[in-house]
Formats: sequence, structure tokens, C-alpha cells
Amino acid sequence: MALVGCGSAVPSASISNDQLSERVDTSDAWIRSRTGIAARRVAGPDEPLTAMATGAAAAALAHAGWEPQDLDLILLATSSPDDLFGTAPLVQGCLGAGNAVAFDLTAACSGFLFALITAGQYIASGAVRRALVIGADQLSRWVDWDDRSTCVLFGDGAGAVAVEACDAGSTGLLGFRMLSDGRRNGCLTLAQTQDHVPLLGGLTNQRGGFAAIHMNGQEVYKFAVREVPAVLGELLEATGTSADQLDWLLLHQANQRILDAVAERFAMPPERVLSNLAAYGNTSAATIPLMLDEAVRDGRVKPGHLLGSSGFGAGLSWGAALLRWSGPGTPAAG
Ligand code: UT7
Repeated sequence: MALVGCGSAVPSASISNDQLSERVDTSDAWIRSRTGIAARRVAGPDEPLTAMATGAAAAALAHAGWEPQDLDLILLATSSPDDLFGTAPLVQGCLGAGNAVAFDLTAACSGFLFALITAGQYIASGAVRRALVIGADQLSRWVDWDDRSTCVLFGDGAGAVAVEACDAGSTGLLGFRMLSDGRRNGCLTLAQTQDHVPLLGGLTNQRGGFAAIHMNGQEVYKFAVREVPAVLGELLEATGTSADQLDWLLLHQANQRILDAVAERFAMPPERVLSNLAAYGNTSAATIPLMLDEAVRDGRVKPGHLLGSSGFGAGLSWGAALLRWSGPGTPAAG
């Protein structure tokens, strides 16, 4: 598959570290030095995930020069759907992409990369010719705004990438690896609340509902700085790629210190490590396409550039993909 278009959308409201310190016992200095984050976007009640995801999707469609009817598949990576039955169909409806099947994929902060790889398999099998892969999250709805250890980290956003079948020689997905470890699930959860309600007779029912995000930050940090270099290293070796052939490192944006540690491991100079953490914080499934869109539009990522990408987070889940950006106008296969 070729990566031929991208787009993004974020809520207009931005909350600075100083503003947050009016609510919880924190400071701009602590948040910046420990995470690299300076501000985050937060959606209001009238800005549902569907609208943000549709905005990113429409921008990616326009960038690729496609009509909504051209789409065969819409994959929405999210952990914060508007509807637990699936939000991708709502996006499909808003876009008017009547020929596309649309469904959600949940893998937390690894979600976009996993969805991109999944779309790649449908395209490789010949089942799909054109797909839109969206990463969108509104974790502001699920953080405890009185818990300083998590509320300073997350923000809302959406990004999308348009991918299509291409000749084998010009593929945008040169290799990938995906991993999960459910034994470490407890490190980072957005879990069901235990809310038992009497039903009838002796039967008790578990009512639906979710507790706020809970994270063991230090454990997740250690996991990330160990597993991300490992999985990226394995991928580079498997594809016969050396780190200095990469134009960019495009990592999940969770913490600048994690980006720096991974870059150091591959001796990548800071100017080749994409980062927009300062403006957006951790937007979960959206970080990778949001970052890609920014770097494509400001001219840093150019057609033909090679990107080493890695997503990691709750599950625990993590993975890596070697991507080549084509941009609009790439000739499609067949
Ligand atoms: O997207 C999913 C992947 N997520 C991640 O990759 C997150 C990985 N983890 C991290 O990025 C870091 O662990 C954090 C940024 C979450 C925390 O940084 P840390 O350097 O690991 O801090 P810590 O949890 O060890 O806490 C150090 C101190 C503690 O105080 P004491 O016990 O030393 O007195 C915390 O209570 O910092 C305190 N603290 C804060 N202080 C001011 C925790 N949060 C805050 C805060 N403001 N917001």
C-alpha cells in the first residue's frame, strides 16, 4: 500500500500547564521537565469524537484528492468511542462514504499503528483498494481531573492517513511487528467499574460503566524505554535497514524523555525525531497521524522519506512499522 494523504483535527480549546496548576498541585516546571508537555487540547461537550475524527478524515481525503465514494474501508482506532457499538460507522455516515465498510479497532496508544498495519493486510490481499485509517481519542473524558499523575499527560485529537493499493516496488509499509502482554494489563487501564445491581430473583447484574484512567507511570515508562528500541531494532534488522537510513523517527508521543531515550539508542539526532508533545500532550491513538500530518504539511516529511514508527501503551501493546511516505498523486496499482 502507498500512504497518499493525511489530515488532522483538534479541539480549539487549549489548556496550559499554568492553567492546570490552578486545579491540581502541579507546576509548569514539573510537567515540562518530566514530560515535555506545555499544553493540551480539550474537547467540549458539543465536540464529539465523531466530529473530530470526521474532520481529520475529510482533510486526509481532500489531501489525497479522493471523493468519499472512493473509499472501500474506514478503520477508526480509538479507546474513547462516542458509541461502544462502534463510532467508525458514524464517521462513514458523516463523510458520505457509502461504499466503505467501517469499524473500530481498539489498542489504546498502539491503535493507529495496528490499524494502519491491518488496512495494509486488506490491501495486500486485494480485498480493498482504498482505505482511510483514523486515530482519534478524547481521553480528557476519561481522566480524573483531580489526579495530577495522569490529568497533566493527556489531550484530545484526531489524525488520518489515506492509503491505497500500489505496485510492490513503491509500498509504504516495508515491514512491521506487533506485540501484546496482557499479564501487564494492570499498568494502564480504563477498566469497568464494579457496579452490581439486583436483577430478579437471586440474579445480580454488572452495570456498564468505566472508571477513570489508572496508570503506574514508572512501570509504563520502563516498559516503553525497553520495548520500543527492542521492537524497532528487530524490525530494522528484519528489513535490512540501518537507523541512519531513516529520515525520521515517528513515535507515539507520550513523553519527550521516552523519545530522547529511543533516539539515543539509534544515535538519531534530535532534529530527525518528530515531536509535537509540547502543543498536544498524549492524544493516544491520534499522536502518530497528528504528528505525521503536521510534518507533511510543514514540509519536513517529503515524498520518498523513510520513517521508523512505533506505538506503545495500554494492553500492554506495542509495535513498530517501517513506513515510506508517498504523498498525493502516487500512481495506484491496476
Ligand atoms: O500513552 C501510554 C504510554 N504512557 C506513557 O508512556 C507514560 C509513561 N510514564 C511517564 O511518562 C512518567 O512516568 C510520568 C510522566 C507519568 C511520571 O514521571 P516520573 O518521573 O516517573 O514521576 P513519578 O511518578 O516517579 O513521580 C515523581 C514525583 C512523585 O512525588 P514524590 O513521591 O517523589 O514526592 C509524584 O507524586 O512527582 C510527583 N508528581 C507530580 N508532581 C507535580 C506526579 N505527578 C505530578 C505532577 N506535578 N503532575
